[in-house]
Amino acid sequence: MKTVTLVPGDGIGPEITESVKAVFKAANAPIIWEEADCGLNAYEKTGTLMPQHFIDSLNRTGVGLKGPTTTPVGGGHRSINVQMRQMFNLYASVRPIKNFKGLPSFFEGIDLIIVRENSEDLYKGIEYMISPGVAQGIKLITAEASERIGRHAFELAIKLGRKKVTVVHKANIMKYTDGLFLDSIRKVASDYPSIAIDDMIVDNCGMQLVTKPQQFDIIVTENLYGDILSDIGAGLIGGLGIASGANIGEKCAMFEAVHGSAPDIQGKNIANPTALLLSSASMLDYMGELEVGNRVRNAISSTLANAHERTRDLGGTLGTKEFTAAVISKLK
Ligand code: NAI
Ligand code: MG
Repeated sequence: MKTVTLVPGDGIGPEITESVKAVFKAANAPIIWEEADCGLNAYEKTGTLMPQHFIDSLNRTGVGLKGPTTTPVGGGHRSINVQMRQMFNLYASVRPIKNFKGLPSFFEGIDLIIVRENSEDLYKGIEYMISPGVAQGIKLITAEASERIGRHAFELAIKLGRKKVTVVHKANIMKYTDGLFLDSIRKVASDYPSIAIDDMIVDNCGMQLVTKPQQFDIIVTENLYGDILSDIGAGLIGGLGIASGANIGEKCAMFEAVHGSAPDIQGKNIANPTALLLSSASMLDYMGELEVGNRVRNAISSTLANAHERTRDLGGTLGTKEFTAAVISKLK
């Protein structure tokens, strides 16, 4: 048995983490959960968004599964996700975008992965009020972090038998910052002659994703662009309800859905737990539990393939709990 830090999170977080717990129990996954609050819930109880017991737990376990957390807007609150990625050096956000068999989507044949640099760029949080009415934010890009994410993308390509890495940037306008990002990744690419590399300007990439998404294999990009492009990617394959993700560092990894805490549907038993379930299956892969990971994924696929066994965001009628029960019934 291995221990995993579980953050139920805010909004729909507790409902969808319950779903993962139920599926893991039914699948006999060899995982013990160590629950730790984070986010708005934790803030209301302890006055801090990221309590020490969570930090200690993740340092101890090295692997976490996280429900979405609400970041209060303004008021000096820094995003819990951004803080967590920086504190634990979770430098790579990996988000697979792939069609689900039987699930209607705008396109067929999509199978791409977005590898997003998670530690710097405009999300570094270097922002100031220069004077009343004038704010400034600083975009920070380093060769070290850019090479590191480039290497992560190419290593992933080798591991998964992928053919091409596309660097997405805006180096035509931001010649120093995005220029450094692009150059750093080109430099790393020379160590991987079997993988093709090309590059694309981010606005064109947005357009290409919604017109010809099949052309992409692995996309590697900066923090802000990766954030936006992964939501576009989620929309392409059926919405945020099924888009999974992982934040990976050298010592530690945190698995979470792409979507947020969805306060508009909180507590109504209508949230789709698929995105977090798929993230939890990737977590099992990461921990070397490939057999259970595959069983969970297959059960989700066979459930989603039936139009009458989907949640409302996918045009179905099932609630969170009923969908979870359907997935459990398909576990082999
Ligand atoms: P959101 O992703 O929570 O919701 C966007 C829309 O998608 C809403 O209409 C919501 O109902 C729907 N939706 C999202 N997940 C769904 C699911 N599993 N099933 C069915 N429908 C789903 O984005 P929003 O509203 O911009 O953010 C809400 C809060 O979440 C904010 O406080 C934000 O900071 C936080 N957030 C947290 C993230 C994280 O913890 N990783 C990521 C993104 C946002
Ligand atoms: Mg996002």
